[in-house]
This record gives sequence, C-alpha cells and structure tokens, in this order.
Amino acid sequence: MKTTGGSDDAKRRAGERAAEEATDGMVVGLGTGSTTAHAIRALGRAVDSGLDIRGIPTSFQSRQLAIEAGIPLTALDEVETVHLAIDGTDQFAGRHLIKGGGAAHTREKLVDSAAERFVVVADPSKQAEVLDHPVPVEVLPDAWTVVTEEIAAKVGGEATLREAERKDGPVVTDNGNLVLDCDFDEVRDPAMLALDLAAIPGVVEHGLFINLVDTVYVGTDDGVEEHQF
Ligand code: A5P
Repeated sequence: MKTTGGSDDAKRRAGERAAEEATDGMVVGLGTGSTTAHAIRALGRAVDSGLDIRGIPTSFQSRQLAIEAGIPLTALDEVETVHLAIDGTDQFAGRHLIKGGGAAHTREKLVDSAAERFVVVADPSKQAEVLDHPVPVEVLPDAWTVVTEEIAAKVGGEATLREAERKDGPVVTDNGNLVLDCDFDEVRDPAMLALDLAAIPGVVEHGLFINLVDTVYVGTDDGVEEHQF
C-alpha cells in the first residue's frame, strides 16, 4: 500500500472513529487508501463480534482488505441503498476534496456519491485553506495526449502522466485507464474546475469531490477532530 503524509496512529484514530458509525443492516461503501484501510480493519473486527453489514469496495485494494477482514461484500447494482461511505482524501478544504492518489477515484466517486452519508477520514497533513494538490484525472488510454493538450490550452493546468513504480510505463487503473496528475497551482474555484475537466472528451473522471462529504474525521496525536458540514 502506498504511504502518504501523516502518522499511522493519526490515520488509525480517524479510521476507527468512522467505523463506529456502522450499525446493523447497513450497506457501507469501502474507500481506498492507507487511512480507510484502518476503517476496514475496524469494521472487520466489528463483524467478527456480530455486526451485520455488507460492504461495497471501491478498488481491488479495498476488496482484498475487506475479504481479509471478513466483511461480507455486495455491489452497487445489487442494493437499493448505500447507507454510509467511508473514504480517505489527498487534500480537503472545507467541503471540497481532491482524491485519486491511489488512482481509485472513479469508483470512489460512484460509491461515495450514492451513499446517504459520506464520511472522510484524514490526518492533519491533508487539510488546506485552498486546494493546491495536483488533481488526478482518469483518462481513456488513447486520449491522454489530447486531454493533456486540452488541459493546458483551455483549463490552464499542467498534466503529467502518472508513471508506475515497479512496472515499466504508466499506472493502469482498475478500470484499464491511465491517470494524469494535473497541476493548477491554487484551485480558487473547485466547482468550476470540476465542470471544465468533466467536459473534456476522453476524461473518465476527475478527482475533485465537490460538496459531497458530510463529515471529515481528522485523526491527531491524541484524538479525533470532527468537521461537520
Ligand atoms: C485513492 O485513489 C485515493 O482517493 C485515496 O482515498 C486517497 O489517496 C487517500 O489515501 P491515504 O489515506 O492513503 O492518504
């Protein structure tokens, strides 16, 4: 699993706090990343103690973790309601997020958007006044050069094809696509940027999550801060 900023203890506190929200009968969206992994493990322990939930994974990684943790799984097209989604973030400013550091943001957005309640788990390194983290954009494989040019010409960003580690060539997502990390410096109007990116042909999904989150749990050295929206 990739490592990101923030201590593992802080991530664990946030993840375990979010997992406490799951109650019997719930369908729970299972996000991706090192912070959500703590929530998935905590949910697994709760299932072991009798909690009756079903999980919907958002990636190969979260599916594997959920299987290891013993969480019964279902799928978006098998349920009527997703009661709760728990997911991590690369950066948040107020109610806006940038996600996709693990290249899983397309399925994450699908599941997180479908949930009645969406909670984010983070550590203090993820909080910002203004979003300025590069925005991951999943693109169809043969669209990456065209989308790169469009982002430079029409949206004012610099796109870099995400290279894989321990594999030659680019990162390939769980959906068989590529990822551009797009630097816009400071994102002063995330909602407008989200619309501009979504309008580019060849873009599958971008990592801006606008006004979706209900609560952000930020794990700290000695507790958990709650940001309610
Ligand atoms: C996956 O693509 C991302 O959206 C993750 O949720 C995000 O990168 C947070 O991951 P960490 O909890 O590992 O920082």
